[in-house]
Amino acid sequence: MNVVFVNPDHPEQPLTLTEQPDPRPGPTQIVVDVKAAGVNRADLLQRRGLYPPPPDESDILGLEIAGDVLAVGEKVHDFRIGERVFGLVAGGGYAEQCLLDHRLAHRIPDDRSYVWAAALCEIGYTANENLFHHGRLQTGESVLIHAGASGVGSAAVRMAALRDCRVLTTTSTETKQAFCRTLGAETVIPYKTRSFVEVVRAAGGVDVILDFVGAAYLSDNLKSLKQGGRLVVVGLLGGRKGELDLSLVLRKNLSITGSVLRARTLAEKIAVKGRFCAGWQEAIDNDDFRPHVFQTFPLSQAEAAHACMRDNQHHGKIVLTRDESPPSPQAPDRN
Ligand SMILES: NC(=O)c1ccc[n+]([C@@H]2O[C@H](COP(=O)([O-])OP(=O)(O)OC[C@H]3O[C@@H](n4cnc5c(N)ncnc54)[C@H](OP(=O)(O)O)[C@@H]3O)[C@@H](O)[C@H]2O)c1
Repeated sequence: MNVVFVNPDHPEQPLTLTEQPDPRPGPTQIVVDVKAAGVNRADLLQRRGLYPPPPDESDILGLEIAGDVLAVGEKVHDFRIGERVFGLVAGGGYAEQCLLDHRLAHRIPDDRSYVWAAALCEIGYTANENLFHHGRLQTGESVLIHAGASGVGSAAVRMAALRDCRVLTTTSTETKQAFCRTLGAETVIPYKTRSFVEVVRAAGGVDVILDFVGAAYLSDNLKSLKQGGRLVVVGLLGGRKGELDLSLVLRKNLSITGSVLRARTLAEKIAVKGRFCAGWQEAIDNDDFRPHVFQTFPLSQAEAAHACMRDNQHHGKIVLTRDESPPSPQAPDRN
């Protein structure tokens, strides 16, 4: 039987551990014996009923996994039973077994851990897709990345710095500010005590903004963009409905765009994976680009992992493991 976490009936209730039949692979799917699963902000939203799974997808929490191949569908010829794999799923990650389409699977390099692998896809795909594909960020341009110490934000800061962009970012605490600097941010704005728009305008504005806050930042984001600037919205932590000064859009020739990952079609996700690998495989192999894992929790302590994320105590990623050893702070990135 497959042991999984299901959503409680009410968001205030703890996650519920239950048993379900083992998943059976469709023709193009792999059954993964999950060793580690990434925790994402979206998981917190899903349990509050704000981010339902797409139709026909698992309603079990968990959007990214790493583990061993247990079984493969009849059309899967590129992965063998026992291989170590990781990848993006539309749900089902908080479980002992999870289905993964083989076209979204990556092999885990011998010198990398399940924890490393479970932390890579959501942040890597989201940051690459929105900075470089939708935001069209070019080497030498400037970018403001909000919540630079978040999982996705930290990946975006690192990627933009590796592309020799000038990176400005916002975050709350001194620890998180120092973390953003280690990733390559040139200017770190303590947004709780300083207005980010003042700092960014004093610096001459930015070409691209990657935003997770939405409505609360809309007006200041537009004021922070240079002529021809691009605002890419990927999160709505500060609300979904804002007031838009269209005269700024016209006068500065601005573009506003955004995207989600989970609800995209399989074909689109395969394309997203392809763009990520094309852009970053070399940096991943030589360890220039890697997820920073703040803390691991045993799967049975998913509730505590959620509390850590909800309280914004972390920077980088939080990962659940099947290993039942106690929560480990600052797990080594490669272990
Ligand atoms: N569209 C997509 O494809 C996609 C994919 C993945 C994630 N996302 C979104 O990206 C965002 C980050 O996800 P994540 O998993 O990386 O999150 P995370 O690691 O939990 O980090 C979120 C951070 O945002 C900051 N924050 C929280 N509430 C805020 C608010 N109201 N105003 C300003 N800052 C706030 C906090 O950092 P400080 O302490 O520095 O304030 C917090 O630690 C989420 O909104 C998520 O839904 C979107």
